[in-house]
Amino acid sequence: MRRPLIAGNWKLHKTRDESVALVTALKAAVAGVDSCDILVAPPFTALAVLAPLLAGSNIQLGAQNCYPETTGAFTGEISPQLLKDAGCSAVIVGHSERRQLFAEDDAFINRKVKAVLAAGLTAILCVGETLEERENGEILDVLTRQTKGGLAGLDATVLQNVVIAYEPVWAIGTGKTASNEDAQEVHSFLRGLLRGSYDQATADNTRILYGGSVKPDNVDGLMAQDDIDGALVGGASLKAEDFARIVRFG
Ligand code: 13P
Repeated sequence: MRRPLIAGNWKLHKTRDESVALVTALKAAVAGVDSCDILVAPPFTALAVLAPLLAGSNIQLGAQNCYPETTGAFTGEISPQLLKDAGCSAVIVGHSERRQLFAEDDAFINRKVKAVLAAGLTAILCVGETLEERENGEILDVLTRQTKGGLAGLDATVLQNVVIAYEPVWAIGTGKTASNEDAQEVHSFLRGLLRGSYDQATADNTRILYGGSVKPDNVDGLMAQDDIDGALVGGASLKAEDFARIVRFG
C-alpha cells in the first residue's frame, strides 16, 4: 500500500567531486532495485552537478532545506522553485538540527511545507522529541504540536506529497536507536494523528519514515514494523556500501 522510501540526508558533507564519487558508486550499488523509492539530499552546491548523473536512474534528488518565498530580497536563501530548477523532487523541512541550531518554529516550518508543495515538490516533514522531552513524558504532546503545526492549513488532497519523518533527537548521530517496538508505537501514534486530522485513507497512504542512527545492522528490524515506511539516514548515507545495504533492507 505504501511504497517504502529510503532517503539519505548528507547534511554538511561532501564537495562536488566527493558527491559525484558517492553517487556514482551508489548508482552501481542500487542498480535494478525497485522495491522502494531512493533519494539523496546532498548540500545545495552539489545539486545541479548531481542532477544529470541521477536523471533516468532509480535515485531521486532532494534538498535539505529551503526558504518559503519564491524570489526576492532574502540574502543567502534558496527557494523551492530554485531547488526544482536544480533537479530536486523533494525537500527536507523542519529537521531537528534546523529547529535547534537555527530556531525554526512550527509556524515557519509550516510556511516551508506549503512553499515546497506549491512548487510541486514533496515535503519531508521532520518531527521528533528531545531526550529531555521524552524523560518529562512530553513526547506525544511534542509530536502532536510539531505534526499539526507543520501541516496546519493543508487539506487531504495535498498530503499525497507529504512524507513525515520521525527522528527522535536523542537518536541522531548518537548510535542509539529507538527500539523497533518503541519506534512502531510512535509511528502508529503519528498515523493516528493523521487519521484524526484527515481521514483513514490519508493516514493509510502517508509514508512515515524513521530516522536516527539507522544502519545496515538495524534497518531490517525497523522496516519490519507495520507503520515504518522507510528511513531518513544521516551518517550511513555517506558510504555507498552502507546506504545500498539499507536500501536493500529485508
Ligand atoms: P544519523 O543517521 O547520522 O543519526 O542522522 C539521522 C538524521 O538526522 C537524518 O536526517
